[in-house]
Amino acid sequence: MSLAAPRALRVGLLGCGVVGSEVARRLVENTDELAERVGTRLELAGIAVRRTGRTRPQALDPGLFTTDAPGLVKRSDVVIEVIGGIEPARGLILTALEGGASVVTANKTLLAEDAGTLVDAATTAGCDLYFEAAVAAAVPILRPLRESLAGDRVLRVTGIVNGTTNFILDKMSTEGTGFATALQEAQAHGYAEADPTADVEGHDAAAKAAILASLAFHTRVVAGDVHREGIREVSTAVITSATQIGHVVKLLAVCERHDDVDPAAVSARVHPAMIPAGHPLASVRGAYNAVFVEAEAAGRLMFYGPGAGAAPTASAVLGDLVTVARHRLHGAGSRGSGHNDGRGDPAPPRLAILPIGAIVTRYHIALAVADRAGVLAVVAQEFARHDVSIETVRQEGRGTDAQLVVVTHRATDAALAATVAGLRRIDVVREVSSVVRVEAEDA
Ligand code: HSE
Repeated sequence: MSLAAPRALRVGLLGCGVVGSEVARRLVENTDELAERVGTRLELAGIAVRRTGRTRPQALDPGLFTTDAPGLVKRSDVVIEVIGGIEPARGLILTALEGGASVVTANKTLLAEDAGTLVDAATTAGCDLYFEAAVAAAVPILRPLRESLAGDRVLRVTGIVNGTTNFILDKMSTEGTGFATALQEAQAHGYAEADPTADVEGHDAAAKAAILASLAFHTRVVAGDVHREGIREVSTAVITSATQIGHVVKLLAVCERHDDVDPAAVSARVHPAMIPAGHPLASVRGAYNAVFVEAEAAGRLMFYGPGAGAAPTASAVLGDLVTVARHRLHGAGSRGSGHNDGRGDPAPPRLAILPIGAIVTRYHIALAVADRAGVLAVVAQEFARHDVSIETVRQEGRGTDAQLVVVTHRATDAALAATVAGLRRIDVVREVSSVVRVEAEDA
């Protein structure tokens, strides 16, 4: 007697842009291999697009395309959402979950704004919701945070999670390329968001920081909780200054757990920072991403790889697809199983978010100053007035080009902001040229 082969699972793909078409092509071309991995065939049931009739990848049957996304969702066992943005993505994901389908999404914007609604819907429906591609594309970081490190206490996550800005800063620092040219190159490579402001102003990294912090600290952090500064203020002078103190400039996403406040809190911030050239994150070049995790028992871990682009993102989406398909086949994660593997904490507590003013770090400050005796004393006095201790100070240039470059010890953001405001009022200070945080001193 032979057992009947399990039926094929119908996969509905929502969106056929850069990532969607790569997912579809690989799903069709690797169908036999994927069937072996899952234990049954994955049948591409349809691809929902805004308009049919556009030029599509040759490997795809034109009959797969439909403008009826809700209809496709209703006839799918697994829905892959790669439309991006809030609506209609959110409505379609909720329809999918309510109808008992598992969901794979790469939608960092939606997850960073409203993961709670999606997770609750998945929990109620008993369906999987996986989103590895939402942060750092092919780099497996979300599942390690959610599963491998679930028995540990994560203390800090520091990431380079935006390929476009890392590419730009790397070009500026190693080749002296101007900001605009470097951005154009990033766009030509397909790393940048449709509106590159999302990369340059740090919105993309802030969305990813919210997702990382939520999973790392088992709480809910949304994009609005993340302090955000982009890279527009990073001049060639700042990059040169960093080099002079043995550092490099990176756009960092820093997520921290604060057990020294009562009740315990978390924080998440995205901003340019100088990091020591010997830190593992300093070696992350081009559009690569890396996430450095510090955990109580595990110690320091680094996850590194291609964090942008169609194929790396498709890799993460298809990895999630295989996982949720296996769960459906074997009972876990399907409706009513009570399996919670793919959804994170069922009812995460909401830890307080520490405001940026309370965050403690070091700072690099460049000041254009008058070049005469006593100026240094006046400047040092202003730092002392706000209890900001100076680690090093050096003068660059003479006469009208005189600059003081100060690196501080650890101080709160609020104290530093008050110091900078005070410095701006001192007549021997012609200009506060730049203020950049200095991170990761101990790694
Ligand atoms: N635009 C993003 C980046 C890729 O540059 O990293 C997708 O998240």
